[in-house]
Amino acid sequence: MSITLLRADQVRNLLEVDVQPHTQLNIIYGENASGKTSLLEAIHLLSTARSFRTHRIQHVIQHEKDKLTVFARLQNGPHVHQLGIERSKRKADIRVNNETVHQTSVLTRHLPLQLITPQVSSLLEQGPKMRRRFLDWGVFHVKHDYLNNWRAFHRVLQQRNAALRQRQSIQQISVWDKALIEAAMVITQCRQGYLTALLPMLQQYSHGLIQLQPELSYQQGWPVDEPLDKLLSESLSRDRERGHTQYGPHRAELMFKFSGVPAHEVLSRGQMKLFISAMQLAQVTHLSKEQNIQCVILVDDLAAELDRSRRSALIDLLMATQAQVFITVTEPSLLDIASDQGHKMFHVEHGRVREVQ
Ligand SMILES: Nc1ncnc2c1ncn2[C@@H]1O[C@H](COP(=O)(O)OP(=O)(O)OP(=O)(O)O)[C@@H](O)[C@H]1O
Ligand SMILES: [Mg+2]
Repeated sequence: MSITLLRADQVRNLLEVDVQPHTQLNIIYGENASGKTSLLEAIHLLSTARSFRTHRIQHVIQHEKDKLTVFARLQNGPHVHQLGIERSKRKADIRVNNETVHQTSVLTRHLPLQLITPQVSSLLEQGPKMRRRFLDWGVFHVKHDYLNNWRAFHRVLQQRNAALRQRQSIQQISVWDKALIEAAMVITQCRQGYLTALLPMLQQYSHGLIQLQPELSYQQGWPVDEPLDKLLSESLSRDRERGHTQYGPHRAELMFKFSGVPAHEVLSRGQMKLFISAMQLAQVTHLSKEQNIQCVILVDDLAAELDRSRRSALIDLLMATQAQVFITVTEPSLLDIASDQGHKMFHVEHGRVREVQ
């Protein structure tokens, strides 16, 4: 799958973008503040309806305009799909093949996207939420009923937490436990199965990029040797004091270590960026093998924190995944692109994006 036509209007400083990307590699270059990251942001909006830089869409909409639009044509084998999004401060209008859809997940299914940015190390440095999101992205794309189950779990969790905060009776609170446990078990099994399948690919990419083998551990969100139903009833009075449910897959943690030391405490900045790229490459390759689905990979400021040989190694591995890749860089000379590597170059200047031969 690849984006064969991309149009964007009123996204940040971009001026009526209308480009036909290469199916493999696209290099987007230009000076600081020209609009390179904004172009990636536009593509990201088509997959998630959100920006990766801010939660406030009004900051992405061009100053003094009230809405932004992004449109893409996707080629998937013989099939062509059209994705469009119009976002104002108040609402998002999503259209897939000219029909209005109400769930962002429809976009995400059509356009599986991975994003590597200079801020990517926060995945290892911050709390477990982003690592759970990393995991759930993979399971969502490989197991199609996962989303329904995940939603069901979070619905019940909210209801149980509301009952806890309202200090309802034990019977009223524990009425939610059966459904909560059922969904929790499915989520946990899916995540564990996914990680088992992902690990060999992660090891291979990690070895290729930083010559180190990670140890991976998944903590499911409650002690493995205790049944969840028992823990939920035992912790009920404490849950009621705190107003939320302490045990369940919403508290799961995914940890990466090297020789027993957490990744973010031992890896250099460049190694951290490369290791997270390895995690994402593993996901992309797994999805391609399991479902024959190709991703789009956005790499913002690829050169940041990487020396010349690591940049080349990363580009080689990115290209080997068969994903469509968009790389931004301030100057094309920072990248070594093999002469037989099919690619297109786009120059961005004051918000104008122009293909250069
Ligand atoms: N809502 C907005 N409307 C108009 N312009 C904006 C808006 N938000 C940001 N900008 C401007 O858009 C320009 C492009 O920003 P962008 O982050 O895309 O640049 P870039 O090419 O990625 O630069 P760098 O190489 O420094 O990362 C900047 O000058 C920024 O100030
Ligand atoms: Mg940028």
